[in-house]
Amino acid sequence: MSFPKRLTDKIAIITGSGRGLGAATALRMAEEGAHIVVNDIAEDAAKQVAGQIEKLGRRALVSTHDVSNTAQANALVDEAKKTFGTIDILVNNAGITRDSMLHKLTEEKWDEVIRVNLKGPFNMGQACAKVMMEKKYGKIVNLASIAWLGNIGQTNYSASKAGVVGLTRTWALELSRYQINVNAIAPGLIDTQMTQAIPAEVKEKFINKIPMRRIGKPEDIAAIVCFLASDEANYVTGQCIQIDGGLTTGGAGG
Ligand SMILES: NC(=O)c1ccc[n+]([C@@H]2O[C@H](COP(=O)([O-])OP(=O)(O)OC[C@H]3O[C@@H](n4cnc5c(N)ncnc54)[C@H](O)[C@@H]3O)[C@@H](O)[C@H]2O)c1
Repeated sequence: MSFPKRLTDKIAIITGSGRGLGAATALRMAEEGAHIVVNDIAEDAAKQVAGQIEKLGRRALVSTHDVSNTAQANALVDEAKKTFGTIDILVNNAGITRDSMLHKLTEEKWDEVIRVNLKGPFNMGQACAKVMMEKKYGKIVNLASIAWLGNIGQTNYSASKAGVVGLTRTWALELSRYQINVNAIAPGLIDTQMTQAIPAEVKEKFINKIPMRRIGKPEDIAAIVCFLASDEANYVTGQCIQIDGGLTTGGAGG
């Protein structure tokens, strides 16, 4: 399959891109001409994706910074600037789940998910926005989830993703004057390692509720992230696009 070249020589940081949706997005962006900072706390995975990007003829920088740590997120952005000179695109993709019913949810699981899924995007967004404001250009895409609408067993995760939608809308308002677009996507059930842990019978029930009757592919997500990161989406900001095979069209789907 050949892709449009909408991101030629753009510099993109994609957090958590050693596997799953981040890796698919990194590869699709490289196909579209971008050079990529492959960030993931899993070093081997990040190196592997970086190798694939280089095979496509693009540059790749491996970063193992933990985006939930403010000092490390700042160091990642500094390193990206030093290597590539600038940053055009940020995809806040790194995310985790620590599911539990409310009455069993520990403080540790709450803190962990909020730190990675909400503080991580804040850390990265703040550091990258400073670079983008100076050059009056930038695209930020934040990974929310349909769980932002609420989902049983996901108090911490749904709160973090609702927070991501909130900061997306606020950044869109604050950063539009600098020609920086900020959008979120809310994937439904997508086939990655994160969702492979879901028991088969639960997945089956879920699929039966999806109007398109299938689980999503990482490529379904990568395509929309690339669109939002491209100049084709210059007049789109502050939005959250549900990519869920129609699941939430009739409500939260839960
Ligand atoms: N898969 C789905 O069905 C689905 C649905 C909705 C939303 N999402 C969201 O999409 C994003 C990607 O999901 P995925 O399914 O590809 O997950 P995944 O678990 O397959 O990959 C996430 C990657 O992020 C990395 N990571 C975790 N914490 C990190 C940190 N602190 N700093 C840097 N990297 C870190 C992990 O090492 C991993 O490689 C997440 O934000 C997730 O919440 C996924």
